[in-house]
Amino acid sequence: MKKVLIAFAALSVLAATPSFAEGDADKGKKVFKKCKACHAVGEGAKSRVGPPLNNIFGMTAGTQEGFKYSKVMIEKGKEGLVWNDETLGEFFKAPKRFMKGTKMSFAGFLKKKDIDKEKKVKKADKKVANLLAYLRTFSAE
Ligand code: HEC
Repeated sequence: MKKVLIAFAALSVLAATPSFAEGDADKGKKVFKKCKACHAVGEGAKSRVGPPLNNIFGMTAGTQEGFKYSKVMIEKGKEGLVWNDETLGEFFKAPKRFMKGTKMSFAGFLKKKDIDKEKKVKKADKKVANLLAYLRTFSAE
């Protein structure tokens, strides 16, 4: 009986894990306001404080020509960091936790003190999912 319960608990945890893939692009557009000061996206997007964000899905981190990345971003790219739902999601939730030394000065959607608070994690994941859905509309996949 105990085993069954544990298996059931494991399953419900899996089911509760939000998928970054199910975002709402319209809501994501609003979330992107937090990024706009530094990033452009869409036709003719150029580097601002940060690099443009077209076609980032499947792109190796730190490889857009003409942008001066931090050492660590370039290093991570060389080590094989490719941007996808998972890696972008973790980066957006906490840039400095995901990549110590990045020069992206954005606090992230999930504060360190909240990482074990289910509600806050869910809220952050939802924001990220919406943001990813929005960014995906600028990615040819
Ligand atoms: C204060 C400016 C700033 C803000 C705000 C900001 N970024 Fe950045 N972003 C940067 C900089 C600078 C880099 C380059 C980091 C490095 O080289 O370490 C970067 C890098 C990135 C990259 C990696 C791109 C690549 O070519 O590998 C992505 C993706 C990204 N930012 C997305 C976002 C999103 C989405 C938001 C909003 C939630 C955001 N950023 C908010 C400045 C910012």
